[in-house]
Amino acid sequence: MSKNHERTLVTCALPYANGPVHIGHLAGVYVPADIYVRYLRMRGEDVLYVCGSDEHGVPITIKARQQDCTPQDIVDKYHKIIKDSFTGLGINFDIYSRTSSEVHAKNASGFFRKLYDEGKFITKESEQYYDPEAKTFLADRYIVGTCPKCGAEGAYGDQCEKCGSTLSPEELINPKSKLSGAEPIKKKTSHWYLPLNDYEQWLSEWILDGHKEWRSNVYGQCKSWIDGGLQPRAVSRDLDWGVPVPVEGAEGKVLYVWFDAPIGYVSNTQELLPNSWTKWWKSDETKLVHFIGKDNIVFHCIVFPSMLKAYGDGYILPENVPANEFLNLEGDKISTSRNWAVWAHEYLEQFPGKEDVMRYVLTANAPETKDNDFSWKDFQTRNNSELVAIFGNFVNRAIVLTHKYFGGKVPACGTLLDIDKETLAEIPALKESMEKNIEGYKFREALKDAMGIARVGNKYISDTEPWKVAKTDMERTATILNVCLQICADLAIAFEPFTPFAAEKLRKMLGVCICAGIDHRKGEQETVNTYKAGEGAALHTVSADAVDPNAKSNCPGAAKCTCLNWDLLGNSEILPEGHEIGAAELLFAKIEDETIQAQLDRLAAIKAEREAAAAEAAAKEAAAKIEPQKAEVTFEQFDAMDIRTATVLEAVKVPKTDKLLQLTIDTGIDKRTIVSGIAEYYTPEEMVGKQICILANLAPRKIRGIESKGMILMARQGDGKMRFITPQEALVNGAQIG
Ligand code: MF3
Ligand code: ZN
Repeated sequence: MSKNHERTLVTCALPYANGPVHIGHLAGVYVPADIYVRYLRMRGEDVLYVCGSDEHGVPITIKARQQDCTPQDIVDKYHKIIKDSFTGLGINFDIYSRTSSEVHAKNASGFFRKLYDEGKFITKESEQYYDPEAKTFLADRYIVGTCPKCGAEGAYGDQCEKCGSTLSPEELINPKSKLSGAEPIKKKTSHWYLPLNDYEQWLSEWILDGHKEWRSNVYGQCKSWIDGGLQPRAVSRDLDWGVPVPVEGAEGKVLYVWFDAPIGYVSNTQELLPNSWTKWWKSDETKLVHFIGKDNIVFHCIVFPSMLKAYGDGYILPENVPANEFLNLEGDKISTSRNWAVWAHEYLEQFPGKEDVMRYVLTANAPETKDNDFSWKDFQTRNNSELVAIFGNFVNRAIVLTHKYFGGKVPACGTLLDIDKETLAEIPALKESMEKNIEGYKFREALKDAMGIARVGNKYISDTEPWKVAKTDMERTATILNVCLQICADLAIAFEPFTPFAAEKLRKMLGVCICAGIDHRKGEQETVNTYKAGEGAALHTVSADAVDPNAKSNCPGAAKCTCLNWDLLGNSEILPEGHEIGAAELLFAKIEDETIQAQLDRLAAIKAEREAAAAEAAAKEAAAKIEPQKAEVTFEQFDAMDIRTATVLEAVKVPKTDKLLQLTIDTGIDKRTIVSGIAEYYTPEEMVGKQICILANLAPRKIRGIESKGMILMARQGDGKMRFITPQEALVNGAQIG
């Protein structure tokens, strides 16, 4: 590994605390970041891993309003759910704090104030929508109206959720405030702007010339922003939820959420390491990497760096910003508002002990270069035919046979045959490929390499058949199982970044521990190198100052236990002869069809519900559609029509038709037959005895061979539904209408 830095600072996009996290978030940001961090730590790198909840912004205030509670209630609720989800999945940040923290308010506020004092902002007056009843400015999301593009009601001032168009509030037809229902008016307001245009040249040199190695989706987005010409960007908002703008006369204004949130990375570092945070943010020896989703690229590559550049004072810039594309679910876009998602906290509840399976599947299918799809069938297949059938199966055979033939002690390695040598030789190559891939942020490929090691092991044990050899040659059996166990130890290293729970379980079976790197979670008081043994076993720690970089292991338990680290991967003598191993346990369990079906059924029900709601809304909309007025008629033309009351005496269906009823009616003048196309709306029984209105002097027509004299007056609404017209109280038949 080319190492020209002392330490690595890894940040993950701060999730909005207005809902739980789902597999799209996990696949896009948190799982890849966690793989990266675990890998670096095993390599002995000093890594700080920072995240937290993003607790400001308009959507949180809207959610609070919908649920009739305060924004604080909303963020309290989701902060906890999100934090627990990460922990449950083995994503252990050194700090997971929140942008509603005191440290952050102070820090973000101070950051703004310095830029303000140094004249780094410009102010601009603009007209913004204002609710005259609620006496407050309205964010675009707070204005609703008719979509100018598709005509849907309830389109937001920034977007129509029906047709997906991006809108501005000016375009809405009939705009109304969501707060009071009042019609919004335009009112002048002034805001602070960061003139991004001033940083354009600098950004172009830094990114377009200097970071051609960034992922093409990231580089491409930056290029199109910069080439398109950057504009000043507002950094404040008229809103009552957020960090107040620390300037006199700025009452009712807060920092724009995208101004305060990235500063949250710094605040959270300060909260954890109040005395030593600067070495993480202001030293060229620190390598900063931001893990984000693609919708965050402009903020992390253009806006936040410009803020830091404006601030100066030694802040470093990201070395890389590996942004992922989006993950779809069963072919459909994941959507919180449409409840189309697999929620992390629900998954953890429904699939206890299967944290690794989700991590594995999301990595195997990671949307690294293009949007990708998650399907439950694929989830099942990857578990059953990869994790269980290859990785788990190999380990299980190796451990069980070692107990069976050698009393659970690593047997001696005798003379290596070609097959043994060839097998063992494959591993260093896979290790090297993994390093290249992880350091190049290609986690899918890296996972394939790790799985490659399991495949090598599985093939080796199948080809060498130690259970058969044991009948005749115990020495050869010993060698085969020794090789198998060394490969198991390789797997305990290689899978630590991807499936940490299984790796830990495997270490317990093998009776080894692993260097999990420096633990910063306790802040400055305790900086320790942690050696993680298998689950249940003690954690050995050693002060980082006492770490000897040249020692094979610094683990204080090393006398008793074998300690793994990244460099040992591919070493064919990791486990010494005679080393005692633990009992075999299944690493992964098969996932049955019923389990998958239950998930598919849940999604189908959500889809059906959504489709029913959409159909209902469409029907309502159609019904409400009013036909335009017809061309004018004269009074004489109207008066020429003889419209009267009449009563239905008999009704029968016209044979071989679906729509026609033959009605015998009493018109007051005579009894006659009218054939009417109302069978879709009324049964014959429903019509008999009803008083209706007819056009009596319509020229007779033959319909299906039946002479029809006159027409029944019907009201028809937009969706085609028809109802006959009846006088408000019974009248004599033949009463004239007009
Ligand atoms: N909350 C944002 C999102 O979920 C991410 C904020 S990242 C930060 O899209 F850098 F601003 F914190
Ligand atoms: Zn629309």
